Amino acid sequence: MNDIYILGIESSCDETSVSIVKNGYDEIATVILSQIDIHKNFGGVVPEIASRNHVQNITIVIEECLTKAHMTMKEIDAIAVTYGPGLIGSLLVGLEAAKTLSFVYKKPLVPVHHILGHIYANNLVKPLKFPLISLVISGGHTELVFMQDHLKFQKLGATLDDAVGECYDKVARVMNIPYPGGPIVDQYAHEGKPNYKLPIPLDDGSFNFSFSGLKSAVINLVHNEQQRGNEINKKNLAASFQNVVIETLTHKTMQALEKYHVKNLIVAGGVAANKGIREKFTLLCEKSGIDLSFPEMKYCTDNAAMIAAVGYYLFRAGKTSNLELNSKSTSDLK
Ligand code: KG4
Ligand code: ZN
Repeated sequence: MNDIYILGIESSCDETSVSIVKNGYDEIATVILSQIDIHKNFGGVVPEIASRNHVQNITIVIEECLTKAHMTMKEIDAIAVTYGPGLIGSLLVGLEAAKTLSFVYKKPLVPVHHILGHIYANNLVKPLKFPLISLVISGGHTELVFMQDHLKFQKLGATLDDAVGECYDKVARVMNIPYPGGPIVDQYAHEGKPNYKLPIPLDDGSFNFSFSGLKSAVINLVHNEQQRGNEINKKNLAASFQNVVIETLTHKTMQALEKYHVKNLIVAGGVAANKGIREKFTLLCEKSGIDLSFPEMKYCTDNAAMIAAVGYYLFRAGKTSNLELNSKSTSDLK
């Protein structure tokens, strides 16, 4: 069979990214232009600023990726693009770029669900083995997904309120840690002792999550201590918070693996970069004989390599679209 080259485009939040991946796993070139330094000044992503920056960057990033790959559009078989979920203005920029390339170069257009992309970031490390369970933890999502085979998935549960990454960022903000706070909270957690008492989130036997209670408990604790004139030990608070997050995520995930008799676990999304989460899952999976996979650190957060990777399977399954494709700010995995 001939090699298939997919050009992926991702612009759902504050990263403008383009990548070329061969046969769903072989990364040829990837360019990621992050806007973190711009949004840091506002304590979070400002949608309007994000979309304006995508407009400025998208053609430069496409050209840079092709140059890096020593390829031309002629050699590309299809264009995969994130259509949702994400910030609508940001999504539109990547989508319009993809449609234009598809129209001008007469290449099939492959719509990609962002969460599926995160899952397939693992396919760039080692081939996905089925059946598997995937825990997707990012700035916008917390989901447990069961997959019987490529592209065959069933959502087992999701967050009922805040996503884990969002919770990390808000907890960081109340501790005066700059956006995105996740990595620093993770670092502090390793240096502190978990001696603050915090509530355990939703423990109802379901595979749903709820993190807003935990987030509010941390925020209230900080405000109360400030009012009393007491100083917060940031490292100990980070350790206490992270402990509860890790316990909740690992407990539900291990339960799901047992219930569905699954031996393959993949963790995906920005929060999959978390050292504490990686360590605990590694320990538990070793004990239970579960084959565990994490994306490479650089592909935990948003990137187009993961979009091009899953784009290959979608393209081979004939899941292409015409130019009427629209972006969606919210969209269930289906
Ligand atoms: O996947 P991603 O780029 O965004 C969405 O698609 O939603 O993930 C970004 C999120 C941010 O909330 C960031 O704080 C979090 O991932 N994050 C972390 C770590 N590294 C990034 N959270 C906890 N620990 C980390 N080491
Ligand atoms: Zn993402």
